[in-house]
Amino acid sequence: MRVSIRGAAQVMLPPEDGMPYLRRPNELRLEPGSVTVDDGVIVALEDDPGADLIIDAAGGAVIPGFVDCHTHLPFAGWRAEEYEQKVTGVPYEEIARGGGGIASSARALAAASDDELLAQAVDVRTEMLEAGTTTVEAKTGYGLSREGELRLVRLGRQVGDRVTGLFAHAIPEGYDAAGWMDVVDELAAEADVDALDIYVESVAFRNEDLERLGEIARREGVPLRAHVEQFNANRSVPVALAAGARSVDHLACLAPEDVAPLAAAECAAVLLPGAEVLGAERLAPGRALADAGAICVLATDCNPGTSPVQSLPLVIGLAVRRYGWTAREALAACTLNAAWVLGFDDRGSIEVGKRADLAVLDGPVEHIAYRLGRNPIKEVIRA
Ligand code: NIG
Ligand code: FE
Repeated sequence: MRVSIRGAAQVMLPPEDGMPYLRRPNELRLEPGSVTVDDGVIVALEDDPGADLIIDAAGGAVIPGFVDCHTHLPFAGWRAEEYEQKVTGVPYEEIARGGGGIASSARALAAASDDELLAQAVDVRTEMLEAGTTTVEAKTGYGLSREGELRLVRLGRQVGDRVTGLFAHAIPEGYDAAGWMDVVDELAAEADVDALDIYVESVAFRNEDLERLGEIARREGVPLRAHVEQFNANRSVPVALAAGARSVDHLACLAPEDVAPLAAAECAAVLLPGAEVLGAERLAPGRALADAGAICVLATDCNPGTSPVQSLPLVIGLAVRRYGWTAREALAACTLNAAWVLGFDDRGSIEVGKRADLAVLDGPVEHIAYRLGRNPIKEVIRA
């Protein structure tokens, strides 16, 4: 089918074709124009009056579909009762130590059937699509056992466009960190995942486990990713960079001296302002990272604990206000740069020959952040 999106006030275009990511997103162009799609691929940056379907984008913008490169789908149920504890003053680590947190989602997961898990994930993905997200990463992590994690790899394939093995999420009962890392090593060898991830924190794994996961990822030939500096400063970023990580995620407690080395590396800084706000975390140094030329990325971190959020337009609004980012900086961070994190070079920007993953907004891109919490999406095309 041929689709022509006609007469947009802004079409978001990269400074040149073929760029893997943008370190200077203010070079993105926002120009009036049209986009034509055929058979799921962008075929022209002009109007086709003979197309099968014409979408009138007058007054609005056409942008690449959002790429959510950090979610914890699939998961079972929600944890609203913990949110109330949190907002009334109980710290996350205390909730986690008391059997809440990741362990409570793991119990819910073990009790849920595959069909229940998939149904919840499909509901969340549908809401994501309605908010303009066309590509989603899934993670394991709530299995907390060999079998549970392998089950999540299998279900993750039905939920996400990429599956990350977050086998090192929390330390299951009966293990210490090093003992569970032996199991992680075996899981990484056995499971078919697109990346490996680890949660480094006082209630979870240590820098030495991150180093070890780096060796495992190299052996398996998959990218290393890491949840670091979320609630405490552990100086995990130098360790992740030395291990060749593709991304470091969270960074609310990033040490100021780690900004420049991270910005100089080919490693994305994945910022998660939904988790920062709802988890009462510190503020990641988003402005400093962008100024230093880091590969900045935004994602929802969609999970039942720290970030029950599925809307990237909302995340963009939070990032713009809190980090002091421009609309272009926030948009690059959840389109082209996020696609690079997931290893997709066929999407994330509007270029002839790329997948037709597109969102049509009902106003200019600046309104996404400004009209906070509102869904600006008028139409979404996914391939
Ligand atoms: O990215 N930090 C670790 N993992 C999740 C939270 C998991 C949970 O609380 O269920 C995160 O914030
Ligand atoms: Fe996360």
